Amino acid sequence: MLKFFFFNAVHLSGTKYGCGVGGCGACTVMISTYDPVTKQIQHRPANSCLFPICSLHGAAVTTVEEVGSIKPRIHTIQERLAKCNGSQCGFCTPGKVMSIYALLRNHAEPSMEKIIAALDGSLCHCTGYRPITDSYTSFAREPTCCQLRATGQCCLDEEEHVCSSSTGGRVSYIKVFHFLLFIHSGLCNTEEFPPVDPTQEFIFPPELIVG
Ligand code: FES
Ligand code: FES
Repeated sequence: MLKFFFFNAVHLSGTKYGCGVGGCGACTVMISTYDPVTKQIQHRPANSCLFPICSLHGAAVTTVEEVGSIKPRIHTIQERLAKCNGSQCGFCTPGKVMSIYALLRNHAEPSMEKIIAALDGSLCHCTGYRPITDSYTSFAREPTCCQLRATGQCCLDEEEHVCSSSTGGRVSYIKVFHFLLFIHSGLCNTEEFPPVDPTQEFIFPPELIVG
């Protein structure tokens, strides 16, 4: 697989090996391909522990080493995670950084739903998810939650009615969980973070643009 045969050989140790079966997200890298039909470059996160090398023909692989480092500087994704206390032992951090990096390469201002979906399958055993979502909430465009809970105008108020039925409890729980993610804990000041600067990102290798 990609992780074993490639990264180890060129001493790129940032990508981590956790479960080895696609369950933890620690080994996430970004795969970029060029679509000759739409003439668009597509970026997507991938678990390198499962990714067959033979499927990478014409694709560019970006590891966490290319996103940012202490020399010359870390990427704002890494800075936000660090300043919001979203990294402790750091084992899961490269995978989380790569998941959000791939998202931002496709969507400069993602919705909160997209951010939460991007972190799905990316596990952390020590920090917890509150500081991690806090740090990445700052990339979202205006939150879509109405903040009008208990006024009768919020979708969650409607869910309380559904919750009292025999089948609605689970749906309501998921909505409440998402609602909580929209509320920033205030443990870090997101206004101090530098913005994402797309002009500083690596470009897709021109030699892979064919067709
Ligand atoms: Fe856990 Fe790859 S090592 S998903
Ligand atoms: Fe330790 Fe996430 S910071 S596993």
